[in-house]
Amino acid sequence: MDARELKGPRGRLLTTYRFLTDPYATSLAWRDAYGDPFLARVVNGDVVMTGRSEHLKAIFAAPPDTFDPFGVQAIAPVVGKGSLLVLTGEAHRRERKLLMPPFHGSRMRAYESTMRDVTLRHLHEALRAGGVTTMKDIAQKITLEIIVRAVFGVEDEREADAIAKGVVDVLEAVHPSFLFAPFLQRDFGGLGPYARFRRAAEAGDRELQALIDARRGRGEGDDVLGLLLAARYDDGSAMSDAEIQDELRTIVTAGHETTAMALAFLVDLVWRRPEVLARAKEEANAGGALPYLDAIVKETLRVRPILTEAIRTLKKPLVMGDLEVPAGMHVGVSAVLAHHDEERFPEPEAFRPERFLGRTFGPTEYIPFGGGHRRCIGAAFAEMELRIVLAGFLQSVDLTLLSPASSRPYRRNLTMAPKDGVPVRFAGRSTQSLLRASEVARAPSQGTFHGSAA
Ligand code: HEM
Repeated sequence: MDARELKGPRGRLLTTYRFLTDPYATSLAWRDAYGDPFLARVVNGDVVMTGRSEHLKAIFAAPPDTFDPFGVQAIAPVVGKGSLLVLTGEAHRRERKLLMPPFHGSRMRAYESTMRDVTLRHLHEALRAGGVTTMKDIAQKITLEIIVRAVFGVEDEREADAIAKGVVDVLEAVHPSFLFAPFLQRDFGGLGPYARFRRAAEAGDRELQALIDARRGRGEGDDVLGLLLAARYDDGSAMSDAEIQDELRTIVTAGHETTAMALAFLVDLVWRRPEVLARAKEEANAGGALPYLDAIVKETLRVRPILTEAIRTLKKPLVMGDLEVPAGMHVGVSAVLAHHDEERFPEPEAFRPERFLGRTFGPTEYIPFGGGHRRCIGAAFAEMELRIVLAGFLQSVDLTLLSPASSRPYRRNLTMAPKDGVPVRFAGRSTQSLLRASEVARAPSQGTFHGSAA
């Protein structure tokens, strides 16, 4: 069957609007109405949307040159033309090879104590300020500082803060209007959101270059920037400064807001379920491996996928089962649909970390980090970070949710986020003891924090 004949919702503008504002509910409603796959006709094209394992297999296994990333024109100004998110074909493959090692295996262990240290310090600051905040706020501070420290190798708090602020200034200047309507990416005589964004971005570029220059002078180290400066392509050449700038921007951008929103959702889900919370606390306080916390992280990303779908544009026709998708159409790998497969995840709306205890799901069944040749390079880093921050919360503070009802998920720019930010109150341990604990975590002689899964 030709994919153009698939059924789907009518009205391009309305479909786009519903899909952008409430992708969780709309994806499921459309699957119920039209089946999986269905055809979402949106303003920037026709997307074959699917969460079916056999179709995902066809998409992830297809040769990389079958696809272009979707919406490149929209994100290119934010991350840069040389960003992994934008590159295709051989350039993408060779760039991934250089970027992946810092986020794998033993390299990642180097970030564990930073993750714990940053968590405790931000809890200390929240307590000192009276304890009332939102998870969104504290999670953004924690994840941004963690990624900045891991990437730039800075120890000094003020330096980390200054870098973080530089990045946030640029991201804050991003406006959905020009992301989703790239024809608005024009200067208009220095007025309007895009001109404002360009000014912030140029200042950001200058700061990044200064950081690259300074890091070059310091020599070797475990931080991502140090590894990128030392990395070599297959032909022995090094990355140019412009390439490094684009990838630093990409990693910090892709790596902090996603993890922050996952953490905010996680707290909202766990702290409303006394039995889950009790079991998590017990495991965190036992000080050993953290399989249940790992399961909580995975179940959070199942019910609240932060990027609801990975969309690719077909450069060549693709066959998925009995479906032929012609070149020019788009395929959307939907985490919402995949994670709501009732056979794999019975009662899919229920939050049950136990689903992930003692079993794993395949790369076409559970896809919070996408898949195939563009799968998220920070997946292991993000899961470890969420586990360690959660352990830090459970061990160090009493947390109370201040809103009587669960937070409503909505799409904020590209990522999903809890609408009310998840208001919380922290209480408990004295702030001094938190700081002492954070210093202990920082001292290398104290060994590693038990942040790993079983
Ligand atoms: C909970 C947190 C995170 C979630 C839910 C998430 C999710 C995703 C998804 C769905 C994709 C697209 C995959 C695809 O197209 O198949 C992606 C790509 C990517 N992510 Fe993440 N991510 C997270 C954290 C991170 C972190 C911490 C980093 C960096 C350290 C990172 C760096 C990237 C990069 C560079 C790409 C582009 C890969 C490529 O195009 O080859 N992400 N992420």
